[in-house]
Order: sequence, then structure tokens, then C-alpha cells
Amino acid sequence: MRTVFYTASTLNGFLAGTGDDLQWLFDVPEEDGGPDPAAFIGSTAAGVCGAATYAWVLAHEAPPDVPGSWNDAMIGTSPLFLFTHRHPPIPEGADIRILSGPVSDHLATLAAEVGDGILWVIGGGDLAGQFLDAGALDEIRVDIAPATVAAGKPLLPRDLGPDRLRLVSAQRSGQFAHLTYEVLPADGPERPIGTD
Ligand SMILES: NC(=O)c1ccc[n+]([C@@H]2O[C@H](COP(=O)([O-])OP(=O)(O)OC[C@H]3O[C@@H](n4cnc5c(N)ncnc54)[C@H](OP(=O)(O)O)[C@@H]3O)[C@@H](O)[C@H]2O)c1
Repeated sequence: MRTVFYTASTLNGFLAGTGDDLQWLFDVPEEDGGPDPAAFIGSTAAGVCGAATYAWVLAHEAPPDVPGSWNDAMIGTSPLFLFTHRHPPIPEGADIRILSGPVSDHLATLAAEVGDGILWVIGGGDLAGQFLDAGALDEIRVDIAPATVAAGKPLLPRDLGPDRLRLVSAQRSGQFAHLTYEVLPADGPERPIGTD
């Protein structure tokens, strides 16, 4: 299993503004060559998200009472593992499996589902941090939007130094900067600058 945290972020590192606002993301003008998350999502074996992200999708893209809206909105993200302490509504036809508690307790279940494939860590940032804490975050991909917000939900609320992150690629993608980082093991060997 390879775990990839792929998300959009503001330039100053927020996944969402105050009140889980994503308007800054939808306001970015579309341009040729812009981000194509569908291609990535189609390559994943499963997704995982937290309760606030799930609530946002239900509220804005897949109302549980609209038949088919879940599969239209989250196509390619099946099954979806949902970390929550609650019992939220599950749209008809959606393969959503509820998990709770430490990420490390569920890695075997996730790996059994995903096999050699990709587990898309959708967010939020703290859930991605929980995968990191469990030694189970392999890659971070971010589409950085040309926008800032004063407050909101942080991209990754953890301390992670340059010894733990390696920039793999940086591309312009329409009005976004698409960055891919490999997450290095906590006890990895020191790598002198310029030896790649
Ligand atoms: N910019 C983007 O592309 C992008 C991507 C993803 C998300 N978002 C947005 O970013 C925001 C993220 O919200 P968020 O930071 O609050 O994160 P979140 O991970 O979506 O939700 C956090 C909640 O998930 C539950 N949870 C997390 N870990 C758990 C665990 N180990 N066991 C059981 N329950 C657990 C808890 O809720 P309960 O205890 O209430 O169950 C927790 O309060 C949302 O607004 C979302 O729409 C944006």
C-alpha cells in the first residue's frame, strides 16, 4: 500500500477557510493544463477521510437523498474509509466503511483492501498527520491555489523538517502550482545537499 495525501491548498497552507469555506478554490479561473485530480483519483484503490471532509461532500456535492449523487461526486473513490466517532448518513449505493481510533490500529485493514495500490488520503490535514504519526504517509501532493485565507483548517498540522520531505516534482498547472513530495522515514540516513 502506498499512501498519498493529495489535496488543494491556499498559498499560505490552509485546506479550508473559516467555516470550512472552499470558495477560494472554486474561484480559481480554469485554464488549459489545470489540475486533473480525476486522473489521480482514478488510479487509487481506496480513499480515506475524516468526518468534516465527509460532511462537506454530503452538504455540497452528494446529498444523501439524491440518488446517484455520491457516485457522480466521488467516482473512483471506492471504497471510502471514513474516520469518525459518529454515525453519519450513508448515501445509497456508496461503499463507505467507518473506522475510529488510532490509525495504526487500522493499517492492516486498509492494506488488505488496497494491496499494492494507492490509498488516497483525502484529508483533513490532521488525519494526514495521524497517518504520518503512524509511519504510514508516503507522499504529499498539493495543488497550491493563488489565494490566501486568514484562518481555517491547516494543510498538515505537524512539525516536519527538510530531513523528512524530498521535493520530487514541481509543475505549473494552470493557475496552480502542483508539488509532489516524498515523505522520508523518521530515522532515514542523512542526505547531503546536492547528492541526488
Ligand atoms: N482543499 C481541499 O482540496 C480539501 C481536501 C480535503 C478536505 N478539505 C476541507 O478541509 C476541511 C477539513 O476538516 P478537518 O480539518 O476538521 O478534518 P477532517 O479530517 O475532515 O475531520 C476531522 C474529524 O474527523 C474525525 N476523526 C479524525 N480522526 C479520527 C480518528 N482517528 N478516529 C475517529 N474519528 C476521527 C473527528 O470527528 P468526529 O469525532 O466528530 O467523528 C474529527 O473531528 C473540511 O472543510 C474539508 O472540506 C479540503
